Amino acid sequence: RGDSGPDAAALVAGRVVDVPDFPKPGIAFKDLTPLFADGPVFREVVDRIVAHHGADSFDVVAGIEARGFVLAAALAYATGTGVVPIRKAGKLPRQTHAASYALEYGEATLEVHQDSFAAGQRVLVVDDVLATGGTAAAALELVERAGGTVSGFTVVMELGFLPGRQRLSPRAVHALLTV
Ligand code: PRP
Ligand code: MG
Repeated sequence: RGDSGPDAAALVAGRVVDVPDFPKPGIAFKDLTPLFADGPVFREVVDRIVAHHGADSFDVVAGIEARGFVLAAALAYATGTGVVPIRKAGKLPRQTHAASYALEYGEATLEVHQDSFAAGQRVLVVDDVLATGGTAAAALELVERAGGTVSGFTVVMELGFLPGRQRLSPRAVHALLTV
């Protein structure tokens, strides 16, 4: 299960803030903005993700709006690859594929440009947090519908008490840290 352990836990300690009852009562929000704002820690997090997957294992990085964008651009720059945005509905200007997923109340939709990937292009998909897995499942479906091959799905933090990993099975999930 990921690379969770004392090292990763120590690395992010104090840089992920639990915010109770955000955005709704009963939800404990994992706020990674202090981690993103800490230069040495952010670089180390990105380097560890690259090391885990191997810089040669993917051709492009797909980031999930919005917090996945921060990581995706850094991963792409570190490996000389490019970034493809997977966006919330209505933001991409050209023809898209769309996938909806359940939220606590109602649903949300993600989109990707239909011509985002060359056939068989290997895509590392990244987000900050894996919770229920709804967001990730939609994103991975979109990458494949757009012609990409998912080479990995990676997050900084996985909420191990929620069934996100099981939901994405048999696909492998890499989490720097599982809490
Ligand atoms: C958060 C987080 C993940 C997703 C995880 O994004 O950044 O993308 O929820 O939840 P899930 O595994 O239950 O789907 P959010 O939808 O809050 O939007 P944001 O990234 O634009 O802030
Ligand atoms: Mg998000």
